[in-house]
Amino acid sequence: MRYPRIIAHRCGGALAPENTLAGLRIAARLGCRGVEFDAMLSRDGIPVLIHDERLERTTGAQGAVADSPVADLRRCDAGARHHPAFAGESLPTLAEALAVCRELGLWANVEIKPSVGRDAATGSGVALIAREFDDIVLSSFSMEALLAAAGGAGNLPRALLVESNSGDWLDKLRQVGAQALHVARHLLTAEVIRPLLDAEIPVAAYTVNRREEAERLFALGVSGVFTDRPDHWLADEM
Ligand code: G3P
Ligand code: MG
Repeated sequence: MRYPRIIAHRCGGALAPENTLAGLRIAARLGCRGVEFDAMLSRDGIPVLIHDERLERTTGAQGAVADSPVADLRRCDAGARHHPAFAGESLPTLAEALAVCRELGLWANVEIKPSVGRDAATGSGVALIAREFDDIVLSSFSMEALLAAAGGAGNLPRALLVESNSGDWLDKLRQVGAQALHVARHLLTAEVIRPLLDAEIPVAAYTVNRREEAERLFALGVSGVFTDRPDHWLADEM
């Protein structure tokens, strides 16, 4: 499984509004080879790029993503809350974002982000779009979503996301048939990573915003890091 070393978090990290096409373009201009973004279902079942279940923080609009038809979400301004210079930036669909990744030659980690109670529908809905593209890894904190994604994903690789050390990561990977683990950076030590590397499981770490922390993680054997600050690396280091 191929991982870029430096993966821009939520499209372009802190340099652009999160989960937007502008973020993808900035990441590519910096020389990033990989990006991560979050995909959630609209009310009518279309995967769109957004992190929160509600619209307020990133768009200023009111309401829940799961209650909003995609036509309404498309009218949200996903840029101005980040900076007025990005006013009018659209809230993209997953299909649009993956088409831009293809155009820019970007590897993409699509994080399946289900609204409460929509785990399986989000997993399969995201997989059905993503299977039309190459150079993709699907991931999720939701085991139910990852299992549902397997049905629609064809041969797309899948990664389990974890934010705590439950002591049974390898068991969970086997249960969902995932090939890689994405781990909160502070959990990673030589001791906890060893069984994963012995099992040839690629490990990626989030969210790593300091070079020294990235160097610690690469020395442990991590394949890639998700960062809000891709500008801390030069293109030939990514
Ligand atoms: O996929 C890595 C990272 O994005 C997970 O956390 O909350 O930023 O989606 P979050
Ligand atoms: Mg994410």
